[in-house]
Amino acid sequence: MPRKKIALIGGGQIGGVLTQLIALKELGDVVLYDIVEDLPQGKTLDVAEASRVDQFDVSIKGTNDYKDIAGADLVIITAGLPRKPGMSRDDLLTTNAKIMKTVAENVKTYAPDSIVIVISNPLDAMVTLFQKVSGFPTQRVMGQAGVLDSSRFASFIAWELGVSVKDVNAMVLGGHGDTMVPLVRYANVNGIPVMEMLERKYNDSGKAKEVMEAIVQRTRMAGGEVVKLLKTGSAFYSPAASAIAMAKAILNDEKRLLPTCAYLNGEFGVKGFYVGVPAILGEKGVEKVIELTLNDEEQSMFNNSVEAVKKLIEDMSRLGF
Ligand code: APR
Repeated sequence: MPRKKIALIGGGQIGGVLTQLIALKELGDVVLYDIVEDLPQGKTLDVAEASRVDQFDVSIKGTNDYKDIAGADLVIITAGLPRKPGMSRDDLLTTNAKIMKTVAENVKTYAPDSIVIVISNPLDAMVTLFQKVSGFPTQRVMGQAGVLDSSRFASFIAWELGVSVKDVNAMVLGGHGDTMVPLVRYANVNGIPVMEMLERKYNDSGKAKEVMEAIVQRTRMAGGEVVKLLKTGSAFYSPAASAIAMAKAILNDEKRLLPTCAYLNGEFGVKGFYVGVPAILGEKGVEKVIELTLNDEEQSMFNNSVEAVKKLIEDMSRLGF
């Protein structure tokens, strides 16, 4: 059986880590595309030369020619500029929309049957634009944001409670911006509600709420926290790892329930927009959006986040995309 072919569009920081993770996990053969001459060739050569040491056996090729992505089963897109300190993800809109339009046209031409995961920011707008330009079925086009936002949320909870992060289940819904919705009520440590554990820790429900509010706030601003420290770019290990979890679910038809930037067709009361929601990922892409009951406060935060996504999409169409 031939190995799966994975095309990575964008050979920068995230593209490099994606290449390495795919190789280490032997998820498939990699083609890494970038517009910068020699960059993808250099990165892929570097990763490939570790194959003896790390014992992986996949083909890894760098290219500046879209023809090489022909027949890709899966495409992961990171092409575009990252944030600099002081920038919001939305500040990247004009530059990255131009890039995404070209990327979508080429993926449509050379890998028309692929499933696509977009990582480029502003995420919700870039996924929307990719789908619009490519005309791909919405089931085959999704964005990575929620897996990372949820992993950050879970990490902060684990560090606060002094438990292994492996036992923390926590999910973040909504758009990939400051309005994202960490679901506190559903967060748990192997089934035990996180709020109950915090209340026991502090023996004070007011203090527990305050601590959780700080965790929620840190989660919302977590991307910016990394940008501020790195100074020259944005997070790249964790976004790559998150997209790989999604890629693996799709390539191995795992039916994992992962927070995904998925197209909503009435689910959660939203029609015609890409928003972060729980979804089942398998060989067909986004196989099902899973709805859950939100209380009034959660629903209003979710609505607020959806409004922010709608505004971003309006801004993008005003710019002619
Ligand atoms: N086609 C293909 N690649 C392009 C194009 C294009 N038209 N324009 C730019 N690129 C490439 C750049 O040459 C660069 O190598 O995209 C790559 C982006 O890499 P980095 O600048 O290192 O950014 P990275 O940290 O990987 O983030 C990429 O993901 O999380 C988001 O906000 C982040 O939008 C950013 C994207």
